[in-house]
Amino acid sequence: MKTILITGASRGIGLATATLLALRGYTVYGTSRQPQAETLNGFTLLKLDVRDAESVKACIETVINHSGRLDVLVNNAGYTLSGAVEEATLEDTYRLFETNFFGVMRLTNTVLPHMRRESSGHIINIGSLAGLIGVPYLGLYAASKHALEGYSASLRYELHGSGIHVSLVEPGDIQTEIVSEPPSNPLVAYDGIRERVAAIHAANLRNGPPPEKVARVILRAIQQRKPKLRYTVTAGQEILVPWARRLLPDWLMEYFIRDAYHMNS
Ligand SMILES: NC(=O)c1ccc[n+]([C@@H]2O[C@H](COP(=O)([O-])OP(=O)(O)OC[C@H]3O[C@@H](n4cnc5c(N)ncnc54)[C@H](OP(=O)(O)O)[C@@H]3O)[C@@H](O)[C@H]2O)c1
Repeated sequence: MKTILITGASRGIGLATATLLALRGYTVYGTSRQPQAETLNGFTLLKLDVRDAESVKACIETVINHSGRLDVLVNNAGYTLSGAVEEATLEDTYRLFETNFFGVMRLTNTVLPHMRRESSGHIINIGSLAGLIGVPYLGLYAASKHALEGYSASLRYELHGSGIHVSLVEPGDIQTEIVSEPPSNPLVAYDGIRERVAAIHAANLRNGPPPEKVARVILRAIQQRKPKLRYTVTAGQEILVPWARRLLPDWLMEYFIRDAYHMNS
């Protein structure tokens, strides 16, 4: 059975995925910056801060020392930065990318030598529908997920033929308590609209499917002999987003996105 490491498994999508995979008999390691126990729901919980290279190295070493191998890495740890893009400082943005993008690179670069030795492996990066389109008042989060799209699609070419696969799982709104940091530099120009759009974002999360739906898609990706580049996880009208972005002209796509956030008046 495969050995799997999932970053950010203390709650939300990571917890649901680690729980499901452990139940299916995989050897699962999940992580948290502050683990409250050594095991959780049948998987081993390790300490990890994806922003810290030493922490990443120690975590991977623990997995390799215990299991002798690492077959699947699920880069899941992440959070959102809310507000208008103009309201975030560069420091806010560096911090966000340290987790959502550079954290993925740190983990990936550390596990690849182990996977290359086995001539097999699977890196699954948790992107987002926000990695495919612009999202008002979540713009820098969208930017971090767009970066992950370009990174993952390129890495997949570079690892072609090595036995190591790269996939993106792209959920829409999922019912979790995902952390949303406010921007450090709020501007009067966005007062009112910022709160109205944030309320729509929050309602979309509340009404989204449970994280177990993403967990089942990740399980499917792990089971496939030839994993795809992209797996979207959508509900309701979101199902149209990947298609609409390819087929519609920008002006029409922008109209629909503005409409979804009541920004057309
Ligand atoms: N919820 C959604 O609607 C949605 C939609 C699309 C994509 N996603 C993506 O799915 C992933 C999981 O989101 P979620 O909704 O499940 O959020 P969540 O419930 O807040 O879980 C986030 C996990 O990431 C961990 N984490 C955060 N910062 C970390 C760091 N620096 N180092 C290590 N671990 C860290 C947290 O663990 P500790 O706090 O215990 O360290 C937690 O376990 C994210 O990449 C998110 O962008 C979510």
